[in-house]
Amino acid sequence: MESFVVEGLAGQPRLSGEVSIEGAKNAVLPIMAATLVVPGETKLANVPAIADVRAMAKLLEGIGAYTTIAEGHASIRTHDARGTVLEADTAKRLRASVLLTGASLARNGSVTFPHPGGCVLGSRPIDLFLSGFGALGCQVTEQPEATTVDAPNGIQGGEIFFTTVSVTATETFMIMASAARSPVTLKNCAMEPEVVALAEYLNACGGAVSGAGTPTITIHPASLVPHDEPFTIIPDRIEAGSFLMLGALLGKSVRITNCEPKHLDAPIAVLSGMGVPITVRPGVIEVSRPERLIPATLRTHEYPGFPTDLQAPMAVVLTQADGESSILETIFDGRLNYAQELVRMGARIDVVNPHKALIKGPTPLKARDIDGPDIRAGLAFLLAAALADGVSHIGNAHLIDRGYERIEEKMRSLGLSIERKATS
Ligand code: EPU
Repeated sequence: MESFVVEGLAGQPRLSGEVSIEGAKNAVLPIMAATLVVPGETKLANVPAIADVRAMAKLLEGIGAYTTIAEGHASIRTHDARGTVLEADTAKRLRASVLLTGASLARNGSVTFPHPGGCVLGSRPIDLFLSGFGALGCQVTEQPEATTVDAPNGIQGGEIFFTTVSVTATETFMIMASAARSPVTLKNCAMEPEVVALAEYLNACGGAVSGAGTPTITIHPASLVPHDEPFTIIPDRIEAGSFLMLGALLGKSVRITNCEPKHLDAPIAVLSGMGVPITVRPGVIEVSRPERLIPATLRTHEYPGFPTDLQAPMAVVLTQADGESSILETIFDGRLNYAQELVRMGARIDVVNPHKALIKGPTPLKARDIDGPDIRAGLAFLLAAALADGVSHIGNAHLIDRGYERIEEKMRSLGLSIERKATS
């Protein structure tokens, strides 16, 4: 086990320099899963060196693929990927393992998988997946330890209406539908940039996916073949947004490069409304700490709304706003679980119910030793530790490593004193 040791800046905006953003975790994972329906060798570029990518590679290898990942490049060879059982331990730890269900059904007509795990953000059901499999003619057999889905007569075309907007459900059925016998229409789809990136990958391989980025996506069956050139993964908007929050809190002059500012319209609008000086140029965002932060009303929403993945980091910014702010978390019912730890550091946060919190500021934060419960709350604790007065130990570094590449190196390059340390 490892933790981060952070020497806080006691609220002094001293960070400056440049930080370069990696490829997006939530874009590379569905594209890796989709390589199953593109038999042959897929080459990817701008692949982040994060634990979730390694976990997805392990799952692919478990069903017969060969993967090589180094220095931002990946090669995934799926010629012999004929397995249909997802390795349970890894699949249970990675929610994105669910993306392989549709891919395996499309490629091999069957899949057996445990309930997918991932971050504990409240209940994370899979009902949309199970009903979608049924709608496309598959048979679902649920057992206590694993679920098996079979497509004895192939994957049928048709229409799926998602009763809840879901990113990975949208992606799973986009992948699966490419092997259907007739067109599939998906309605009430997620519109995240990662969904659009998946459509672009499938189309680069000869797919016929239209409407990605709108609520209705249509997929015509197609025989997919790998694209010759490496497919480049889009920049990680959540990593960029996390550094935007760090800059808003402690930046003298922070430059975020290799990012896509257009994917961050909502966080930029909220921070600008709080008085944060932000300059946007193609691929670059510059940010610094204003003298006074104005309180904000924050409501998470599916894209293009404010991303739930930046809600916890944003809460740390709100602890420094001059007055009362509020957060309404509309996507998950367990995503305010970090609040009590920030309170221990001196924040004034009232969690009204599992979806709503009120934050009064500004409050100086005191250093503490705390463990992050998930990737994004862990990152929020790093921000709080950077802001605090004194030395904090932030445990569960492995959870932060799931989504952020070399986070301590990047924060250190901006002038923060942060070290990784082995713990027992
Ligand atoms: N939902 C259902 N039934 C289902 C599936 C989802 O009710 O069958 C509900 C969820 O409980 C939730 C809502 O739908 O209330 C939206 O969840 P969604 O399915 O969109 O989440 P996800 O696809 O599991 C992805 C990201 C998450 C991100 C969410 C929301 C990936 C691999 N993960 O998860 O990223 O928080 O969308 O934007 O794309 C992270 O990166 O830290 C992370 C958790």
